[in-house]
Amino acid sequence: MSAGIIGEPLTRVDGRLKVTGAAKYSAEFDFPNLAYAVLIQSTIPSGKVASMDTKEAERAPGVLAVMTPANAPKLAAPQGRITTLQDDKVHYNNQPIGVVVAESLHQAYYAASLVKVKYETTEAKLDFKAGFPTGYPGHHNEDPGDASWGDPDGAFRASEAKVEQIYTTPIQHHNPMEPHATIAQWDGDHLTLHDATQNISGEKGSMAKMFGIPDGNVHVISLFLGGGFGCKGSVWSHVPLAAMAAKQVNRPVKLVLERPQMFGPVGARPETYQQVSLGATREGKLTAIRHHVYTNTSFLEDYLESSAVPTRRMYACDNVSTMHRLVKLNTGTPTYMRAPGVATGTYALEVAMDELAYELKMDPLQLRLANYADVDPQTKLPFTEKSLRECYTRAAEKFGWAKRNHEPRSMRDGAQLIGWGMATETYPGNRLPASARVTFQPNGRVLVESGTHDIGTGMYTVLTQVTASELNISPDLVDARLGDTTLPIAPISAGSMSTASVTPAVQEAAQKARTALFNLAAGDAKSPVYGTSTDQLVLADGKIIKKSSPATGEKFADLLARNGNQPVVGLASVKPTEDKSKYSSQSFGAVFVEVTVDPQLGPVRVRRVVAVYDVGKVVNERLGRSQFIGGIVWGIGLALHEDTLVDWRNGRIANANLAEYHVPVNLDVPEIDVTAIDIPDTKLNPLGARGIGEIGITGTGAAIANAVYHATGKRVRDLPITPDKLLA
Ligand code: MOS
Repeated sequence: MSAGIIGEPLTRVDGRLKVTGAAKYSAEFDFPNLAYAVLIQSTIPSGKVASMDTKEAERAPGVLAVMTPANAPKLAAPQGRITTLQDDKVHYNNQPIGVVVAESLHQAYYAASLVKVKYETTEAKLDFKAGFPTGYPGHHNEDPGDASWGDPDGAFRASEAKVEQIYTTPIQHHNPMEPHATIAQWDGDHLTLHDATQNISGEKGSMAKMFGIPDGNVHVISLFLGGGFGCKGSVWSHVPLAAMAAKQVNRPVKLVLERPQMFGPVGARPETYQQVSLGATREGKLTAIRHHVYTNTSFLEDYLESSAVPTRRMYACDNVSTMHRLVKLNTGTPTYMRAPGVATGTYALEVAMDELAYELKMDPLQLRLANYADVDPQTKLPFTEKSLRECYTRAAEKFGWAKRNHEPRSMRDGAQLIGWGMATETYPGNRLPASARVTFQPNGRVLVESGTHDIGTGMYTVLTQVTASELNISPDLVDARLGDTTLPIAPISAGSMSTASVTPAVQEAAQKARTALFNLAAGDAKSPVYGTSTDQLVLADGKIIKKSSPATGEKFADLLARNGNQPVVGLASVKPTEDKSKYSSQSFGAVFVEVTVDPQLGPVRVRRVVAVYDVGKVVNERLGRSQFIGGIVWGIGLALHEDTLVDWRNGRIANANLAEYHVPVNLDVPEIDVTAIDIPDTKLNPLGARGIGEIGITGTGAAIANAVYHATGKRVRDLPITPDKLLA
């Protein structure tokens, strides 16, 4: 493998397409005879649809169909986790309860406004804190909700220093620039979907099941995503509804969610209520950790925000108890949102660690170092690779942490209070099976293909870069294709694992294609390398040459031209190589933050962020940097801005728009200094890349909260830290 290209800051190969508007997102496809669908949504949180009067809507101009629970086609195997008009039940406010299809979008909206709905309401469960469950309800989507070792209660009681606090985080909603969008079209019993999804192959299987057709009859295409962040990881109601509508009107149907419709039917980060107890010796050695989490889900699905899971990986401690309990509410189903569980869990744990540092009159960084975990604290297995110590040291030095005065309210800049805070960041190193195809084409270009996705991360560029590197060819001569279920299958693009999962398949496919190419050359009497043993051949700049005499060789395109202009293909499916019984694979980082707080008015501004990460090998320095920064910016949102305001009388969301649901904007984002240690984790995969997408949001919320305490002496344990909480 030519080392040159891996790690280089190659610009996005699809950058030009994106900035010129030529990149086609799902909603931008057009088809002859395309019809438009809009959703009708419930206005009550719980009960059933008693009747829907659709007469007027059906007579409105351009209307093709009005689908309701009373007339919607029955699915072969409806999914209980989403509502698809298969019954009249209402589980949350804003639930899809009908679809109007018309010739134009405006006609569909107008007609939808004419539908009169009558409900029978039942009492809604909307009080999160009323009666936390003591048992674990149902099954869930994560590893065991509870895990303990040692004697956490006894050790906590006996601890010389203690912190015991409750930390809460609010419901948050995903706000990718691109809302969910689906175009469905049928050809007999074959379904084609252009859909904004992070999981084309998962969607293919799931839609095939719902409609009772073979997997092979479903074709899902998702070429570009304007952000995914987890909400586009599963199939939500609007996808089968669009397909049902397309079947009903026998035309292609487009269904695009409006921004307010992103708040309810397509997931959210649930609310968390986290009890954290830390016990330590006077020297700062952790003796006990308890992290008990209460979090909401819906009545449709037991989604678990696994906030206590990262606590099992962070610090060396012999007595640990982690627990999760779900509270079912009449809200939309929560789901994965960037660093699910980890973002909220590291906030609570890392603020508690800061509180312990103050309890012990110890530097917060020294406290982390004193409890450094050399092996996985739960399994006692070694890590595939861990360089967190270097992250702490480098970040602290860059930040100037040594100059910090530990005393709260001790640092000022004019009238502004200054605060310095830090936290540990972490995210699991995941990897799943994946496949890829690499083709030498008669036109002299190389094609790399995999059914993965570019959720904004830069996967087109990563595929290009790894192929170019493996085949020692200019990236300009490589084309990448992804986001189509006719391509070799790849996993969901989530969990920061696409690069770790897909690049080993690309490498192996490229090697296979190269071997096939060398065999063809060595067996072709007209080739200058005829008769050469294939292990004596190499590729250089698109030429097959002899190792011993580099002047002897030919362009691969010339070889293909003589051989019927046929492509030479390598196809590979690879499974993870790391042994889960031998290793724990986890990324880490250290984040240091400076904030200013106006003591009179309360607003917090993040002035400086320095973070250093250990995520294994970084395949593209430029794209990696953007991922880290994106995560940190979301950490600023977690700490200071994002908050879904639910009217708890009726379960309606009061700020379901980007004007009132605050996310960080340019003025909220300071200079962010990120570095990666860049030590390959070759126990996880040959390139040694562990993934970058999510770790930046972890720890950052806590680092900001800790900086706010350092600035003000006020500990806010309820996110987001808005000015009112600092003035109260
Ligand atoms: Mo992510 S929340 O794993 O798409």
